[in-house]
Amino acid sequence: MKMRFVRYLMKNAALSGAPKHIEHFAKFSPSPLSMKQFLDFGSSNACEKTSFVFLRQELPVRLANIMKEINLLPDRLLGTQSVQLVQSWYVQSLLDILEFLHKNPDDQSTLGNFTDALITIRNRHNEVVPTMAQGVIEYKEAFGDDPVTNQNIQYFLDRFYLSRISIRMLINQHTLIFDGAMNPAHPKHIGSIDPNCDVTEVVKDAYDMAKMLCDKYYLASPELQIQEINANNSRQPIHVVYVPSHLYHMLFELFKNAMRATVESQESSLSLPPIKVMVALGGEDVAIKMSDRGGGVPLRKIERLFSYMYSTAPTPQPGTGGTPLAGFGYGLPISRLYAKYFQGDLQLYSMEGFGTDAVVYLKALSTDSVERLPVYNKSAWKHYQPTQEADDWCVPSTEPKNLSTYRIS
Ligand SMILES: Nc1ncnc2c1ncn2[C@@H]1O[C@H](COP(=O)(O)OP(=O)(O)O)[C@@H](O)[C@H]1O
Ligand SMILES: [Mg+2]
Repeated sequence: MKMRFVRYLMKNAALSGAPKHIEHFAKFSPSPLSMKQFLDFGSSNACEKTSFVFLRQELPVRLANIMKEINLLPDRLLGTQSVQLVQSWYVQSLLDILEFLHKNPDDQSTLGNFTDALITIRNRHNEVVPTMAQGVIEYKEAFGDDPVTNQNIQYFLDRFYLSRISIRMLINQHTLIFDGAMNPAHPKHIGSIDPNCDVTEVVKDAYDMAKMLCDKYYLASPELQIQEINANNSRQPIHVVYVPSHLYHMLFELFKNAMRATVESQESSLSLPPIKVMVALGGEDVAIKMSDRGGGVPLRKIERLFSYMYSTAPTPQPGTGGTPLAGFGYGLPISRLYAKYFQGDLQLYSMEGFGTDAVVYLKALSTDSVERLPVYNKSAWKHYQPTQEADDWCVPSTEPKNLSTYRIS
């Protein structure tokens, strides 16, 4: 049933020349926007027409660039129902926007229809992440996992999800700014951006929400201790130009992980060690470090915590069991993408037997906060080509050589 629908879509798309459009728009590189440019689109002289003319070119470029990469996935993954479904959504959304290529920007109804189309597209793509995850599971069940495939899937999904974050950001800004209403809760926000985002406030909000879940499940939760160091002005709270929902997403995921580790590693919940958060502002970085004493993770496993292929290992069926504090293992990798999206990062430093520090890095200056976007080109293409080269590191033998044979007698 689903399959037939997909084939129908794909056939239709092919008829309308989707591949030709993809070729055309993939030749352009995406244009990364800076925080300042995002704010300008939403300032008092904001012009819906300008935004429309920009988006009807930029959205197809971003869609086409990543669609080229979907096509390079191994056939066995590309062929899964889930990936086919996702691909059909991308084709349909590309075609939806191309409808506006020759429309008149001075026509008010064009602008209204465009906003409606963007909302339709956003909804169409709501389930992309779990659907792709399902595709990876299908692949793994049929063909197993190996380090090379894991690496390829990691490379692709990091770029694919980052591209998706950026496309949703563009759509959200346009629909929020030009829907004619003001955000009553946050009148100073520009779309989803807070020009004066109080980092510690977001830390507290994310903690409160995670604590609620933790209390519900474990009937206990660790306390929070926050320390703020503003190297530029020790009396001022730390503010950044940022998307609070992105920051909240990252911190909420980190808090859930820290709480779960803390509660599960402590025998008596009467003396849970607190989670300590330190927020520091320097000349270049805002760093947010979250330290727990939840027993930590061995170094060997750290990289795996960010892996899309290995973290989907036990398939959680929606609505069954599992702790509400843990999902299907995408908390860390997706959070790291949110951090990277505006040139930041997310890193874990763990001491097995003791606890874990998770650090979120953001750019302190809005001039440094520029979108980080994948581009489809020759070097991206190369990543998808199988190599037969041998590893350039020795494989430790299980039986160490008997060095005594080298002894000079
Ligand atoms: N602070 C932490 N302490 C110990 N283990 C952690 C911590 N954070 C993450 N982990 C481990 O990493 C895994 C992956 O985390 P995540 O990506 O958030 O997915 P999920 O929480 O859904 O399993 C967790 O299941 C847990 O085993
Ligand atoms: Mg988690």
